[in-house]
Amino acid sequence: MYTIKISELKETSILAASIAESICKEERSNGKIIYLYGDLGSGKTTLVRYFLQSFGIVDNIKSPSFSIMEQYYINEISFYHFDFYRFNHQSEVLNIGLNELKDKNTIMLIEWPEKAIGFLPKPDLEILLSCSEIGTDVERYATLSTQKNKEEKWLTNIISAYKHVLAHT
Ligand SMILES: Nc1ncnc2c1ncn2[C@@H]1O[C@H](COP(=O)(O)OP(=O)(O)OP(=O)(O)O)[C@@H](O)[C@H]1O
Ligand SMILES: [Mg+2]
Repeated sequence: MYTIKISELKETSILAASIAESICKEERSNGKIIYLYGDLGSGKTTLVRYFLQSFGIVDNIKSPSFSIMEQYYINEISFYHFDFYRFNHQSEVLNIGLNELKDKNTIMLIEWPEKAIGFLPKPDLEILLSCSEIGTDVERYATLSTQKNKEEKWLTNIISAYKHVLAHT
């Protein structure tokens, strides 16, 4: 588990680009599922927006808070961006048929996964976004973790790429 400070948008954008780059470098992609946790306004959609832009998506990237799902496609990769905040029951996710969308060329980004956790496939990466207010300053943090041992190397690659870019900007 790694926690990094992302108090500025630039840092969020570097983190998003580091995650995107590490996925692109993988020889065999088996698809990815990324959970994004954090309070309202903690920066989940912002991170996803930068992530999608890193892959070259130029569409207007809307928050899926109302639509539940937004979809993008570039270079043979399908991206599904979900926001389950409005679910009253976890089982509502079954209407989406998310498991059928899972594929080796699919990347899923899920805001508010806790609203459907009992019905979701396990994540490859979990990101918790948090804030703390110190006086008038807001400090923002991202905590990255994985449940799968085989993803541990991926995580260290993301963090070292992030630190490297940050040190050279
Ligand atoms: N690292 C950052 N530094 C400064 N401001 C940020 C940062 N990340 C996000 N913000 C700002 O915080 C606001 C809320 O961000 P965002 O919509 O991404 O939150 P969210 O977690 O997706 O919220 P929700 O749970 O409602 O979907 C935006 O105005 C965004 O610009
Ligand atoms: Mg959002």
